Amino acid sequence: MVMLELFNFLHFIGLAFGLGGATIAAIISSKAAKDKQVAKVINKILPSVAKLIWTGLVLLIISGIALPFYIQWPLDKQLLIIKHILVFWIVVIGIIIGIRIKRKKNVKGLSIINLILWYGVTLMSCFA
Ligand code: HEM
Repeated sequence: MVMLELFNFLHFIGLAFGLGGATIAAIISSKAAKDKQVAKVINKILPSVAKLIWTGLVLLIISGIALPFYIQWPLDKQLLIIKHILVFWIVVIGIIIGIRIKRKKNVKGLSIINLILWYGVTLMSCFA
């Protein structure tokens, strides 16, 4: 019983880190686009936010794999498969964003796509 609560808790912590981090990254980035002073220091804060998002994703994936072993009620497998596909794209796009940022290339479009994916997965999970 305790394991279900523990992995559920880790899933929620991962959600808070990931969704929260992705939202904060979007806010800081849009500020930087409008304000040169923010743009100058953005590389001092964004890597920490990126680490928060990756930590959240790892927690979500580990606890998400563990949860079905402890859940007693029937799972909506189709919904979970769609969710896994979306999570896969969040990870792939996240890696591309990381590479492009290092090369000082534009990541605005990709960041918006990932933010929408984050909220989409969260919304979907409310129906599972
Ligand atoms: C962006 C990534 C993810 C987000 C935002 C997310 C979000 C959520 C949320 C909000 C819930 C509902 C929590 C609850 O009612 O206790 C949930 C449940 C669940 N998640 Fe995730 N999740 C993510 C990734 C994953 C991954 C990668 C897996 C599996 C490998 C997974 C497996 C599950 C399972 C099995 C449940 C329980 C479903 C149920 O109670 O019917 N999740 N998720």
